Amino acid sequence: MSDKTPNLLKRAADILTLNDRGNYTQPAHNLYPHQWLWDSCFIAIGLRHIDEERAKTELVSLLRGQWHNGMLPNIIFRDDPIYRTDRNLWRSWLNPFAPNDVTTTGITQPPMLAEAVVRVGEKLSWSERRLWYSMMYPALVRYHSWLYTERDPHREGLVLQIHPWETGLDNTPPWISELHEHLMPLWIRLIEKWHLSSVVNFFRRDTRSVPMDQRFSAIESLAMFNIQLRLRRKAFDINKILDHSLFAIEDLNFNCIFIRANKHLRDIAKSLQVDLPAELEKSMKKTERALDELWDPSTAQYYSRDFITHRLLKTPSVATLLPLYAGTISKERAAHLVELIESRHHFGPPFPVPSVPVDSPWFRPKLYWQGPTWVNINWLIIDGLGRYGFHEQAEKLKQSTLTMVKESDFYEYFDPYTGEPAGANHFSWTAALAIDLLKMDKVPSKTPKESS
Ligand code: GLC
Repeated sequence: MSDKTPNLLKRAADILTLNDRGNYTQPAHNLYPHQWLWDSCFIAIGLRHIDEERAKTELVSLLRGQWHNGMLPNIIFRDDPIYRTDRNLWRSWLNPFAPNDVTTTGITQPPMLAEAVVRVGEKLSWSERRLWYSMMYPALVRYHSWLYTERDPHREGLVLQIHPWETGLDNTPPWISELHEHLMPLWIRLIEKWHLSSVVNFFRRDTRSVPMDQRFSAIESLAMFNIQLRLRRKAFDINKILDHSLFAIEDLNFNCIFIRANKHLRDIAKSLQVDLPAELEKSMKKTERALDELWDPSTAQYYSRDFITHRLLKTPSVATLLPLYAGTISKERAAHLVELIESRHHFGPPFPVPSVPVDSPWFRPKLYWQGPTWVNINWLIIDGLGRYGFHEQAEKLKQSTLTMVKESDFYEYFDPYTGEPAGANHFSWTAALAIDLLKMDKVPSKTPKESS
């Protein structure tokens, strides 16, 4: 560990304290005041090194938002009069399955919960871990089962997403190009044509704390809002949504995280000595096999897929590397993805891994999910590289990630060429995952459970 390490650890811990709201941690003080699903999972992975009980609370508080049908929403809104507008924009209460005590969105986010539960479990004694697992297991089974029943209606193995926010990579190019092509209503096109973006930007809250050129465009944000309204009109009922919309995507990032989460859920069931529901077990196996359908031999990359037409969305993004994290692809394929990470024409600028390869026409080094490096994605890739035995590459990525954070502070994302910061400062998952990376002496080849 370098001289700067204790200082970095302390500063990271201070950020988690700054954003602590008692039973959950805000992703960032000004910009994101509510509880976000995958943020809390990454945050718990860091918090477990500081305070195991607080890490557990972070995850248990996510269950407040679980819908009666099993869905975990991407946001649980803060119960404060000043956020009435946020709650009203979603109106989760329109759906009979929404919880009564809290208000939420009507969509989900990548299923990182099982990973976080296992990581926190690693810090507990055998008996505490059993208690912890038995507390979280029923909610996990309901969530994973919901993903299959509602989001895999044709029983094909891959689960679909209905809003870019569900991917966690909001304005990632494959989704944005689909939006432009299929779901841009006339009123948004006219705003674009008449150059009225500045009027829209005037009402935006996000650009008050982050420079405009580091956030998604006004047109992209209107397109997101437009889908949100469509979902709300159908009261978030998936049957009605799929009946009336041709916009549903089997997102690569989401499905890779789901495959890993399923593996964790199996491990949890095993250590509790219970059997997973047979139907769920069957679906889980199907997902592992179906990942292969997202591979395109002609460009040698993985892509997301249109749910209706089964067309691969061949706009490159960092999601192509996430099968490393899923952990079910062959060693040869994994080696090919490592080449992409190492190539300076693709994912290998000085501060990898960019959210879009640098040779893509979409690439902008400081523009949200269209170029910058994000610490959570690096964490997933480091974990995957380690499990495939690419220790040197994993260690290198860990070091460049920590250097970036040390030099530029705990920002939301970073310029992959210079390491300069962008987005919100004091960002919780950057702090939490920096703690986890610092505590990782060497990148583990296998989690303790897998090697036993
Ligand atoms: C942005 C990110 C999303 C994250 C949220 C809160 O919307 O794209 O992944 O969960 O902010 O940090």
